[in-house]
Amino acid sequence: MSSSSLFNAATHPSHEGPWQRAAGFAGLLGPDGRPSPTIFAEMTAMAVQFDAINLGQGFPDQDGPQEVLDAAKAAIDRGLNQYPPGRGEPDLLAAISEHQRRFYGLDVNPDTEIIVTAGATEAIAATVLALVRPGDQVVTFEPFYDAYAAMIGLAGAEHVTVSLRAPDFQPDLDELAEAVTDKTRLIIVNDPNNPTGAVFAPETLQRIVDLAVQHDAFIATDEVYEHLIFDDARHLPIATLPGAFERTITISSAGKTFSTTGWKIGWAIAVPEIITANLTVKQYLTYVNGAPFQPAIATGLRLPDRFFTTTASILQRKRDLLVEALQRAGFRVFSPKGTYFVLADTAPLGYPDATELSRQLPREVGVVGVPVTAFVRAERASDYRSLLRFTFCKREDVIREGAARLEKLRSTDRS
Ligand SMILES: Cc1ncc(COP(=O)(O)O)c(C=O)c1O
Repeated sequence: MSSSSLFNAATHPSHEGPWQRAAGFAGLLGPDGRPSPTIFAEMTAMAVQFDAINLGQGFPDQDGPQEVLDAAKAAIDRGLNQYPPGRGEPDLLAAISEHQRRFYGLDVNPDTEIIVTAGATEAIAATVLALVRPGDQVVTFEPFYDAYAAMIGLAGAEHVTVSLRAPDFQPDLDELAEAVTDKTRLIIVNDPNNPTGAVFAPETLQRIVDLAVQHDAFIATDEVYEHLIFDDARHLPIATLPGAFERTITISSAGKTFSTTGWKIGWAIAVPEIITANLTVKQYLTYVNGAPFQPAIATGLRLPDRFFTTTASILQRKRDLLVEALQRAGFRVFSPKGTYFVLADTAPLGYPDATELSRQLPREVGVVGVPVTAFVRAERASDYRSLLRFTFCKREDVIREGAARLEKLRSTDRS
């Protein structure tokens, strides 16, 4: 048997392996059965090729707080370089518990109700693989972070979505009620939301809880942007709502808050029974990770309130800078309430297809953005066809230069 017949699911559907389901659900499997690179890899490669300003991928270009960086170096020097405990360094578990109490008034037992994971990504993976059975339905909002779809595919489950539509990207509550049924095992809620920048209204969050209770489903929240929130918006963790805690897995991570995306320190919080289930899977995914980074993130989580408010207000200024520049360039812009992403409609500029434009931008204008179709399934792509996502987690001078380049679009002759 040739290797191609072993691996080619297009010609041999019975050979479809879990990796192909993961790629297929994330929209990365071509008709020839081969996986394509993610749009982020493609765009980052173009940014390098054309020396373009990368406002596509969401990673900061400045380091986070010095205390946090110093704490990691000190931990290495102290010899914290071997496997940490499976649930996480006790000091970080304590700091996560203190953080939940300080910001949200939630009491969480650090010994039984928290595990440290390799980023939020591993917490999502462990949650889906631990709880979701083949044939179950998992509800997410759409556009969605691609890892959800990949994990739902790996679990052999069905992906059901609820649309988030311009201009405010809040879900329609009737559509939500229709999507959640007795077949729903898990509802994944990303709030603040990537890529839309929406912060869900409290009544939406309560509705999610009520539906989960009614249909006996779990809720996993992805709160990695919990501190990147603007204007009058407030982050409200679902776990704080009546009836939610016993069925909710609260997931977050340090990467966005402390500009340490490469450290991959995340966590999951839930009642002990659910944490035990997650830990059972997690211990065979990575077992543990990031020993010296764990106490450093404990330092970060204990920084005074001023750090968190300053981080948000600096980012809000950058948001305004980019939003205004995109408006001047002729885009229709949906100013976000949270995250470090902004969506811009390219249609008013005469570009109905944002994917096509995103491939021209690096070469012709010297800027990279990501089409929102990368976050939706093929059958919904037409609804999001003219939307591009830009990030403002870059230095102000970089945003200004990117903005100046984008303003050239207005004068570009497209004939
Ligand atoms: C919504 C969302 N969830 C999770 C992640 C990944 O988090 P981590 O790096 O902690 O795994 C990201 C990163 O971009 C994200 O946007």
